[in-house]
Amino acid sequence: MRLLAPAKINLHLRVGPPMADGFHPLLTWMCTVGLFDTLEVSNQSAASLQIHLDCDDLSLPTDGRNLVVRATQLFCDASKITGSIHIRLRKTIPAGGGLGGGSSDAAAILTGLRKIFGGGCSDGRGEERESLPQLAAQLGSDVPFFLDGPSAVCRGRGEIVRPVAAPAAQWGILLMPPFGVSTPQAYRRFDDMNLGHAENLAPEPPWQSWTALPAIELMQRLVNDLEAPAFSLVPELDAVRRQCEDKLARPVRMSGSGSTLFTLYDRRDEAETASEKVQRKDLGSVVVALAPAIELILNEV
Ligand code: C5P
Repeated sequence: MRLLAPAKINLHLRVGPPMADGFHPLLTWMCTVGLFDTLEVSNQSAASLQIHLDCDDLSLPTDGRNLVVRATQLFCDASKITGSIHIRLRKTIPAGGGLGGGSSDAAAILTGLRKIFGGGCSDGRGEERESLPQLAAQLGSDVPFFLDGPSAVCRGRGEIVRPVAAPAAQWGILLMPPFGVSTPQAYRRFDDMNLGHAENLAPEPPWQSWTALPAIELMQRLVNDLEAPAFSLVPELDAVRRQCEDKLARPVRMSGSGSTLFTLYDRRDEAETASEKVQRKDLGSVVVALAPAIELILNEV
């Protein structure tokens, strides 16, 4: 079976004060973008569970530290499945860039295993087993979104997912600097800067009218509360963002905890021209479709 795992961007990301467990309540509008990892999964019967992950990005671990292995283990344990499961992961989404690549890979493998093993894991209606969204939430804050994409408002740690229409602006450029931002450090700096206020989370924006806005008007409304701490940790990132804003004459926002930056366009040719304008040796720039209509399971061979 071949699976597509899309990247995401946080169009809008508001963060509240830390909870007792140190995590932060979120209000975020996320949208998939047309940049994909692919996974191939096959299984053979075996008396015990064996998971083999092969990844073309040699900098990533292929043991229990990889979210794909953890997702497979969690699914098989919850569903009492044994077998020899082989997964080949081809990475295109840069790791640690705020694009949710690892989370999307995990959601894709959960979806694929569910298809392969049929009713193995309950769909949330059964009482005896954990549902796919429950398993996803144990793996990371962004994983449940990918079960429900392509466009959703997420609350809680990110696990409360409410689909919304995709933006009318269907094109974006992703600007990828050669350095990353550590997510735990960004949240710690957010706390140190005392930025978590209850008002960040309520009232919610009028999503319905936001989805209909032309790209430039939508960009003017979008906020990312992790920008201030990320830019305080990595001032070069803010410098890149400002330079791109000047060159493109429109707001440029950060996705997640960075370091990927983005801006949106109504038309593909506008996005292509913009991408050429900002491209340079130390700044990758790609044009992506927002919320692309795709089949996540490519084939079942
Ligand atoms: O869930 P994820 O793996 O993305 O979280 C990485 C880290 O970011 C967490 O360990 C936590 O320190 C921080 N985090 C947070 N509040 C969230 C999501 C993440 O404090 N809602």
